[in-house]
Amino acid sequence: MSETFTKTMARNIFYGGSLFFILVFLGLSFHTTRVLPERDHRENINEDVILGKKLWEDNNCIGCHTLMGEGAYFAPELANVYDRFGKNKEAIKAFIKSRPANGIPGRRSMPQFNFSEEELEALAEFLKWTSEIDDGNWPPNIQG
Ligand code: HEC
Repeated sequence: MSETFTKTMARNIFYGGSLFFILVFLGLSFHTTRVLPERDHRENINEDVILGKKLWEDNNCIGCHTLMGEGAYFAPELANVYDRFGKNKEAIKAFIKSRPANGIPGRRSMPQFNFSEEELEALAEFLKWTSEIDDGNWPPNIQG
């Protein structure tokens, strides 16, 4: 092997390296599109989950909360709130329903949204469905 590092060698490393990582990128993209349908268990999306997601967006829950790490850091992570509340939808509904109208003095508090029973059920279903997404165990612990 020659002692000198030539321009041709540098060019080959550049092209070879670029090609290698483009192939890795394509391979990983292909893999992601294949496994996503299994991971997000979309077959369990029902009318309630859809309504819950709409309420989640319309009421800007993400303006305070994170969902799988995405969102604002004002209030607790909610992708695992279903697990945190003992896999109990009623407990989630009761929490959202029982927020005081004027907040809790001296601490961060969750607004009262005056949701109907149907809306509470939909939000709880949405949070249950979210908690069951195979998200590589993120957030890493139940406290989020
Ligand atoms: C203005 C900010 C704000 C908005 C908007 C908001 N929340 Fe909250 N939420 C909070 C705070 C703060 C807490 C923690 C309250 C506490 O522990 O007393 C909380 C707690 C919760 C909890 C309990 C979490 C836990 O681990 O104890 C749930 C469930 C929840 N919120 C759902 C929602 C949903 C659903 C929406 C949208 C409809 C929403 N929140 C919108 C501020 C907000």
